[in-house]
Amino acid sequence: MSARGRFITFEGIDGAGKSTQIDFVATRLRERGIDIVVTREPGGTEIGEALRELVLRQPMSARTETLLVFAARAQHVEQVIAPALVAGRWIVCDRFTDATYAYQSGGRGVPEAAVAALERWVHPDLQPDLTFLFDVAPDVAAQRLSAARAADRFEAEQRDFFARVRAVYLERARRFPARFVVLDGTQPPEAVRAQLGEALDRWR
Ligand SMILES: Nc1ncnc2c1ncn2[C@@H]1O[C@H](COP(=O)(O)OP(=O)(O)OP(=O)(O)O)[C@@H](O)[C@H]1O
Ligand SMILES: [Mg+2]
Repeated sequence: MSARGRFITFEGIDGAGKSTQIDFVATRLRERGIDIVVTREPGGTEIGEALRELVLRQPMSARTETLLVFAARAQHVEQVIAPALVAGRWIVCDRFTDATYAYQSGGRGVPEAAVAALERWVHPDLQPDLTFLFDVAPDVAAQRLSAARAADRFEAEQRDFFARVRAVYLERARRFPARFVVLDGTQPPEAVRAQLGEALDRWR
């Protein structure tokens, strides 16, 4: 049997630059001969993508939102992430449970204990091995997004919402320094790519 794969996650507020860099990381790792699965949350499965549409578009309570992102995550972990890791493949995932602490707890005020309880139920034995936190100020991210596309339910939130989300992300990076790499996301894309490349080389 092959060794378990690695689980790499991308985190940061909307517009921080995660999706822009994900193919770069996947390509860098494939060049090392690693079998990479690129996926995202909410989403990554048919059920997960359907739930994503609901969560991004449909007004709902913070509790409902939290349960739906974890419903999507349960399916994703069981159907995609866990089987891939067991097979020795590596996962590169755009957002995971850190995002639920940041958005639903930090942003929306859902008790952290509720998120922690769902985390323990949905993926008791699974944590990312490496998490890239794309750190940018809400003003910078908002400016990027207003130029890019129509806002979803999260992107339409105000600066103070994103300030709370960012603060929780940074707090988690301090709490879990072994797996978090905080990137300066305000730099131009090529400079962010260089930070990622160096971090991957250090981590190998
Ligand atoms: N380092 C950067 N400097 C300037 N603009 C950037 C940078 N990285 C990405 N952008 C631009 O900012 C916008 C948002 O980037 P991207 O979609 O990668 O963010 P994201 O973190 O995936 O956001 P979301 O969480 O909403 O999916 C895009 O238009 C992208 O081209
Ligand atoms: Mg994105």
